[in-house]
Amino acid sequence: MPPTHFSLLEATRWQDYELLDSGDGLKLERFGAYTFIRPEVQAMWSRSLPQKDWDAAHAVFQPTAEESGGHWVVKKKIPDSWQMKYSLPLTPSPSPTGRGELRFTVMTTPGRHLGVFPEVASHWDFMVDLVQKENQPPNVLNLFGYTGLASLAAAAAGAKVTHVDASKKSVSWARENQQLSGLSDKPIRWVVEDALKYVQREEKRGVKYDGIILDPPKFGRGPKGEVWEIYKSLPNLLETCRAVLSDSPLFLAVTVYAVKASAIHVGQTLEEIMKKYKGTVESGEMVTRETSAGRLLSQAVYARWSK
Ligand SMILES: C[S@@+](CC[C@H](N)C(=O)[O-])C[C@H]1O[C@@H](n2cnc3c(N)ncnc32)[C@H](O)[C@@H]1O
Repeated sequence: MPPTHFSLLEATRWQDYELLDSGDGLKLERFGAYTFIRPEVQAMWSRSLPQKDWDAAHAVFQPTAEESGGHWVVKKKIPDSWQMKYSLPLTPSPSPTGRGELRFTVMTTPGRHLGVFPEVASHWDFMVDLVQKENQPPNVLNLFGYTGLASLAAAAAGAKVTHVDASKKSVSWARENQQLSGLSDKPIRWVVEDALKYVQREEKRGVKYDGIILDPPKFGRGPKGEVWEIYKSLPNLLETCRAVLSDSPLFLAVTVYAVKASAIHVGQTLEEIMKKYKGTVESGEMVTRETSAGRLLSQAVYARWSK
């Protein structure tokens, strides 16, 4: 078995997002023109910015005792929603019509997120790079697609995309982001379905994909209450993903958030799944660097195979 390439992935090209500071179990972030404080248990060090910068935040997420619950305390006026953008590394570079630029809506949500996981932008760049080198449009599958940004990145680079998420609301949000990004004419199929069930059905139908990206939560539910539990469900899902890969696939990329999983173990799992294909597995931590003191916050572990 080839050794896994271990690395830190850092999304370095954001203009509209910034991790301003972290410490004392919190992080201070900028999403467009507004700043937010969210819990970050791993930030065990002290904050570096002065208290006045933290006090200037527009809203603070107050968690309840359970891991996922809580609410936003709004301290300064913020709109119900606003727009952010991200320039994709397309070659030639984005046209003035903005088709190489993701434009999307963000808002504070009860689940503490705002509609974008900024650190996964390094996966978008990775996909864009692979997809745009292909002569034929590759078939890309995005599982647990949330607000659709990975789907839009792959489509902007020339892929035919199938986007799957259990939540109707997330899929509508993703479709709005498609319009905002000027990508309405791009071939994206929007599917509200349980991720595992969907891939199992695609296997039966004999549908193949050249690239698959998945960003599963720790716990989740399909539209019919199907239970997603990462340790139990991921091996089966990855195995089924392999079964729907084309003979000459481009990539298979997975991120795992908020679990006590080691990138080594996720990487080794992917190596086993992809052993019959010639390619490379990289795995490691997905990090964000603060602009205050340059410290890294590890947000997720990832593993990705590419040809
Ligand atoms: C993008 S993932 C979240 C991963 C994230 N990075 C985290 O911190 O948990 C969440 C998405 O997965 C979707 N989801 C949850 N369970 C699902 C299932 N069984 N099948 C398909 N989508 C599911 C949710 O609707 C949501 O949009």
